Amino acid sequence: MIELSNNGILEFIGASGLYGFDGEGYLWKFWEWPLRWTMAIDKSLLTITTKTLRYPPTKGNYRSYAPWRVIKLLSTEGKVISLPKGLLRPELVRGVANAVELTGPGFYQWLEKYYPKILRYGRKMIVSITGNEVECGRMARKLNELDNVAAIEFNASCSNIVSGLDHNQIRAIILRIIEESALPVLLKIGYDQEYVKIAQETEWLVEAISFNSIPWHWIFPIKSPLAKYGGGAVSGLVCRRFYREMLKDLLRAEVMAPIIMPVWEYEDIEWSFEAGAKAVSFGSVGFVYPARPTEHIRRWREEEKKI
Ligand SMILES: Cc1cc2nc3c(=O)[nH]c(=O)nc-3n(C[C@H](O)[C@H](O)[C@H](O)COP(=O)(O)O)c2cc1C
Repeated sequence: MIELSNNGILEFIGASGLYGFDGEGYLWKFWEWPLRWTMAIDKSLLTITTKTLRYPPTKGNYRSYAPWRVIKLLSTEGKVISLPKGLLRPELVRGVANAVELTGPGFYQWLEKYYPKILRYGRKMIVSITGNEVECGRMARKLNELDNVAAIEFNASCSNIVSGLDHNQIRAIILRIIEESALPVLLKIGYDQEYVKIAQETEWLVEAISFNSIPWHWIFPIKSPLAKYGGGAVSGLVCRRFYREMLKDLLRAEVMAPIIMPVWEYEDIEWSFEAGAKAVSFGSVGFVYPARPTEHIRRWREEEKKI
């Protein structure tokens, strides 16, 4: 469990991208509807992160009428599993590739269109942002005025927008965010970055570190089905060993900031807390098994009561 400087608590987190810009999720995920009506999906158990916001509106690759052009379900070997097959036999799905690339309304449209819904549903969300120092500073200043923001997550690892940021640049952006806002700041980094160095440079500034999906070529030796979008990034079970390596490396380096570990199976939660993570996040698992985050958290709470 992570206790934030504003007294907020983080333990189970909905990762950025899972529930859209307002925590409501996506209408096209029709297979979730009955689960929501029956409370098999109970989002109140999670602290949900918004999809990453950029300051300017961004077209990206995602189109709500054809999301599966840039989101692919994968087997262990990186072969694409069709959506109907993946939904009928989710046990075959071991990962998710995506090349969404920060499609979004831009910060001011988000404030107008999505933030009112966050207020209406009474959610307190982690707001994920990315961009340069000026853009992040401006967003942080405005977020500081809002009531339903639990923390700001700086996404320092999104492939085409901010890739190549070194630890000095990341530190400078975080400093600017902190200068403009009293909200707790979280940092999201990836396996393809100099993650230990980045964490060491920012450990006193950020209140937690989370892990992003991993560029295709780090995971699979075959051509990506999203090659025309630059290959995309991979998440899910096939990344498990990379996340574990990151956690171990950061703990070995005695990084002070608590780590948020991505999970898929119930055993990942047990493993992560035992290994030293302080919170866990549900990302692509929620695409394939929408009720899993709720099931796992309920089970965790039950088992906690027994102790
Ligand atoms: C379709 C999709 C969209 C995503 N969008 C974002 C995003 O906008 N910002 C971000 O920081 N991470 C994004 N992610 C990454 C997740 O938040 C998470 O870090 C990643 O999936 C690793 O966790 P997992 O292996 O448990 O899924 C996205 C992932 C997927 C599958």
